Formats: sequence, structure tokens, C-alpha cells
Amino acid sequence: MKRLISLALGAGLIAALSACAGQDKPSFPGEPVRAVPTRGNPVAPTPAPTAAKPVDPMSLYARLGQRAGIEAVMTDFVTRAARDRRIAKRFEKTDAKALIGKLTDQVCQATGGPCKYTGKDMKTAHAGMKITNREWNITGQHLVAAMRAKKVPRKEQQEVMALLTPMKPDIVGQ
Ligand code: HEM
Repeated sequence: MKRLISLALGAGLIAALSACAGQDKPSFPGEPVRAVPTRGNPVAPTPAPTAAKPVDPMSLYARLGQRAGIEAVMTDFVTRAARDRRIAKRFEKTDAKALIGKLTDQVCQATGGPCKYTGKDMKTAHAGMKITNREWNITGQHLVAAMRAKKVPRKEQQEVMALLTPMKPDIVGQ
């Protein structure tokens, strides 16, 4: 059954993504962080343990425009979901800003960024909600629409969806 549902979602996502064909493809260029040359400099300060790790410019995180790019998508996504009459009730008591922050950290971490997601695991976060397959598909469509609106290229859209799709069994029907 789960397999059937996954297949259905897969088909839904492919359909949603196919709708993106022909869109413009401006990219979110990753901003490579240059390492400070320290070799041979005896007075160079030792980097603090919390010093930011250089961003891998090839990571999905970088290609999404780092945290700011992800946050822009999540803001658009939550706004669309909260305005959709089919699922708005789900979010009527939700602090949208807090949810956007959590989603941003979650995706930032999952895509190779330096963020730490500190929210609930997906099973706990959606426990008792009995989210339906239909709601899952609607939400997925809003996420794709948000990525398109923020000019995330198709390849990166697909990579984001591929990261989130396996969460379905922990979210739907809990
Ligand atoms: C891949 C899909 C999804 C992801 C990645 C996701 C992620 C999250 C995250 C990170 C939170 C916050 C957890 C916390 O408070 O610590 C959350 C909460 C929530 N999610 Fe989802 N979610 C997804 C799908 C859905 C769907 C399909 C619905 C319903 C249509 C939904 C409704 C909610 C609601 C109502 C909350 C609680 C917000 C609150 O605290 O008021 N989510 N979700």
C-alpha cells in the first residue's frame, strides 16, 4: 500500500514538475566563500571552533541561493498553502514565521547547508493531524509553484522534491 502511495506521489510530483517545462532558468549562483590564507603567517588567528565552514558551491544548498534563497521559497510556499482554501484550516493556528524558519532550517540542513534543524521530527510534528494524500499533493504543488516563482531551476526543484518525498510516510495519515 505504502508503495502504491509513494508511486502515486511520485506521479503527482512528476506531473507538477512537468508543468514547469519551458520556464525561465535564471539560477541562484552559489557564493563560494574564500578561505583566508594562513600558511606561513605566524600571527594568523586560529579560527574559532564556530567559524563558518566554507560553502561547497556545488551543494544543493549553494545552488538554491544559500539560506536566503531557501527562506524566500519557504515564505512563498507557506503563504500559498495558508491561502489555499482546501488546506488553510490546517494552518489557521500556525505561527507562519516560526514555521517558515523551521522549514528553512530543515531544507538548509538537508541540502548540505550549515544550519541545524531543531524542530520536531516529521512523525511527531504531524501526529494526530490525519493529513490526507490529497493534502500532501496540494502541498507539493504549492512547493513547486513557490520554487518556480523564485526562479529555482528545474533540476534543483527536482532535487528538493526528491529529498522531501521520502518523508511522506511520516507525514500522511499520522
Ligand atoms: C514534505 C512535506 C512537509 C514537510 C517537510 C513539513 C515540515 C514541517 C515542519 C518542519 C514543521 C514544524 C515542526 C515543529 O514545529 O517543530 C511542520 C509542522 C506542521 N505541518 Fe508540515 N510538513 C510537510 C507537509 C505537511 C502537510 C502536507 C501538511 C498539511 C496540509 C502540513 C501541516 C503542518 C502543520 C499544520 C504543522 C504545525 C504547525 C504549527 O505548529 O502550528 N505539513 N511541518
